[in-house]
Amino acid sequence: MFNSAIVGCGGIGAMHAKCYQATKEIRLAAVMDEIPENAGKLGKQYNVPFFTDLKTLLKRKEIDFIDICTPSGNHGDAAIAAARARKHCICEKPLDVTPQRCDRIIRAFRKSGTVLGGIYQHRFADDVQKARAAVQAGRLGRITLATCSTPWWRTQQYYDSGQWRGTWKLDGGGALMNQGIHAIDLMMYLVGPVKSVCGRTAMLAHERIEVEDAAVAAVEFECGALGAILGTTAAFPGDAVRHEVMGTQGMFYLHDDKAVLWKLKDEMEAAGPAEAAPAAAAAATPGVGAASDPMALSTEIFVRTIDDVARAARTGQAPLVSGEEHKKAVEVICAIYKSARTGRPVRLPLARFKPPDRAAGTKG
Ligand SMILES: NC(=O)c1ccc[n+]([C@@H]2O[C@H](COP(=O)([O-])OP(=O)(O)OC[C@H]3O[C@@H](n4cnc5c(N)ncnc54)[C@H](O)[C@@H]3O)[C@@H](O)[C@H]2O)c1
Repeated sequence: MFNSAIVGCGGIGAMHAKCYQATKEIRLAAVMDEIPENAGKLGKQYNVPFFTDLKTLLKRKEIDFIDICTPSGNHGDAAIAAARARKHCICEKPLDVTPQRCDRIIRAFRKSGTVLGGIYQHRFADDVQKARAAVQAGRLGRITLATCSTPWWRTQQYYDSGQWRGTWKLDGGGALMNQGIHAIDLMMYLVGPVKSVCGRTAMLAHERIEVEDAAVAAVEFECGALGAILGTTAAFPGDAVRHEVMGTQGMFYLHDDKAVLWKLKDEMEAAGPAEAAPAAAAAATPGVGAASDPMALSTEIFVRTIDDVARAARTGQAPLVSGEEHKKAVEVICAIYKSARTGRPVRLPLARFKPPDRAAGTKG
């Protein structure tokens, strides 16, 4: 059994702590937060030692894993310190806020030889696995179009609730880097890497944030398919995250990780005209999503994600969300930001991205 220490005891740190009650190969053994009350509250709740200093925590030999749940732009400092201390690491999304910052982390873990695993929990949903297997087996034929949409609602109070929220430095972006990143990762998990993007972003419905609350991008995939990305935190009251994947032999739609439309030529030919029924049934039972409440999250897929990183540490095989996989959506999002700023399409890979120092609706 591995011992894990959560670093960052806010909203998602508390959620991870709950998940460790159900993980099989790894348990919660300590927590740390720079704010003593936050560390103390979570530590006492789960009856584990709590710390306010990362260096002190990293000296503890019984700790195998550092589980990073701090604001996004702080992930790199904690992750690199963990690698240097020869700890394994679980890191919340995004891995960090620019491709070059992600690369620093990936290099540090290559050097340490310990495991770096990220949290893109939606990859572990049953229907997502089924959908990916269908694409990989060629059952959709040639993929022609793929879209993802995150039509969420975040109140002004949400952005005002933390100094880091809605800032380039610590949030790394807005509706795409914080919220839409899951859908973008999943789109690439299903269809493959992105070759180029052409994006537009805007801040339309919030105040005192530096970043976008609405974004769109036209996408070209390496496989030749075309796609579209939509993401917003300005869609009241918020609705399910949507993926639509279409090919010459079939198509499917996922809403909050559940298949609500599933039309594959091979199955339809085998089953006959009654085939539409399973999709209709699925539509009646939507998945769990954070459309308007940032903490309305399913623990089950988080537990699977954390267990997968522990399995990687035990077996020496890469986790499903390796550092390289974790970085991909960050790179695509930064390319969309660059395209929106320059008004030109951007080809990937994007080695470097420089966020604006401060944008129009500056925070604070
Ligand atoms: N996977 C998901 O679905 C999901 C959902 C929500 C948030 N997140 C990610 O989790 C991270 C945290 O988000 P949150 O909503 O929990 O934020 P939060 O503001 O609720 O909590 C952050 C915590 O980190 C602490 N902290 C800040 N800097 C620190 C440092 N240097 N060392 C130690 N502690 C520090 C703060 O005191 C606070 O307790 C973000 O990167 C976010 O993108 C992921």
